[in-house]
Amino acid sequence: MNRRNFIINGCAACLGAAVVPGMLSSCTSTRYINGVLGNNGLTVSTDAFRINKKNMVRYRSFIIAGHESLQYPVCIYRLSETEYTALWMRCSHQGAELQASGDQLQCPAHGSSFNNKGQVTNGPAAAHLRSFPVTLNNNELFIDMRKP
Ligand code: FES
Repeated sequence: MNRRNFIINGCAACLGAAVVPGMLSSCTSTRYINGVLGNNGLTVSTDAFRINKKNMVRYRSFIIAGHESLQYPVCIYRLSETEYTALWMRCSHQGAELQASGDQLQCPAHGSSFNNKGQVTNGPAAAHLRSFPVTLNNNELFIDMRKP
């Protein structure tokens, strides 16, 4: 192996070592679940937020819940043990489906972003996201989808 190949291979290995763990952690942090859809809304278990690892319990900051009858999924953020927000993952600009990334929702169409309360943090979207009231009953979250 000559010096040039050694440098190229070394850089590729370092880049791979730096990027792959980040990709793996982001994959493990997003959880998609099917909720139970009733007449008034969607029900999901708070257990979906739990991460059991080595006798320690941690919690995801958000999960994405959907149902085959819903056109868009709902992103549910866990703000605390008793406080949650539920946001319709439809961009308020032109209706593209949003992507969750940490505490932000990003629009792949034109770049708008929203915080975990549905407020616009970057345009061109001007309106906040549709959000739903969330009720906690024991270990179940009820997402009330009755209001438009
Ligand atoms: S549809 Fe989301 S920014 Fe345009």
